[in-house]
Amino acid sequence: MHKILVIGIGAGSPDYMTVQAIDALNRVDVFFMPDKGAEKAALRHVREQILERFIQGRGYEEVGVEIPQRRPAGDDYRGAVDDWHAALTANYDLLFDRHLVDDKIGGFLVWGDPMLYDSTLRILGNLDVEVEVIPGITAVQVLAARHGIAINRIGEPVLLTTGRKAKAGLPDGVDSVVMLDGEQAFAHVDGDYDIFWGAYLGMKDEILVSGRLADVKDEIERKRAEARAAHGWIMDTYLLRQRT
Ligand SMILES: C[S@@+](CC[C@H](N)C(=O)[O-])C[C@H]1O[C@@H](n2cnc3c(N)ncnc32)[C@H](O)[C@@H]1O
Repeated sequence: MHKILVIGIGAGSPDYMTVQAIDALNRVDVFFMPDKGAEKAALRHVREQILERFIQGRGYEEVGVEIPQRRPAGDDYRGAVDDWHAALTANYDLLFDRHLVDDKIGGFLVWGDPMLYDSTLRILGNLDVEVEVIPGITAVQVLAARHGIAINRIGEPVLLTTGRKAKAGLPDGVDSVVMLDGEQAFAHVDGDYDIFWGAYLGMKDEILVSGRLADVKDEIERKRAEARAAHGWIMDTYLLRQRT
């Protein structure tokens, strides 16, 4: 049975690598590197920096993984994702058989932590492989650290959600961390919130804005649009905390 290490590399900076993740890197023979166009080219660069910096005195192979295009979701988001995962699963199955010969160990460098909005574990779960997970620092942790805040209010829950869901409406009385927001959902939510926003967290182009949502949302929209135009891609995450 093939053995695969799924290594959380932290969300943004090679400095977020844990000692456990560095040890794991040095056990991998073949790294499978997904390639998803312009945004992923920047992320791929961070992954390559990590390999060069932390792998000591041993050879390794890098295998590019072509990521099939996901069909537009329409009103069947789950169906579109399931089909996409099936295509990826078939891809990985072939690649593992081709490259993991003679008990070679495979590895995936997962942005942030594999447990959060990442399909690697779900896809590997469809295959007959042995998986070991090494946790990493998520974008949520980096966001909180860079703003110097705790993510929850005392004894209160926090919802982790997506821009798509946030745009459709946030639950009352619960603070929310929004990720995967291609739609600037913060500009559409109802209610009185403080926002703690961060883009390119941990990277050299990091941008942070915080304040009462009503006061800073135009600034965030403007900075987000400018940065996106300048870099050709953006990744941002934010906490919406209800004002009491
Ligand atoms: C597919 S999810 C992956 C999350 C990742 N597994 C983690 O643990 O943070 C990608 C989303 O995470 C957030 N994200 C990841 N890295 C980020 C960063 N460096 N700065 C801001 N947001 C980031 C963004 O909301 C982005 O759309």
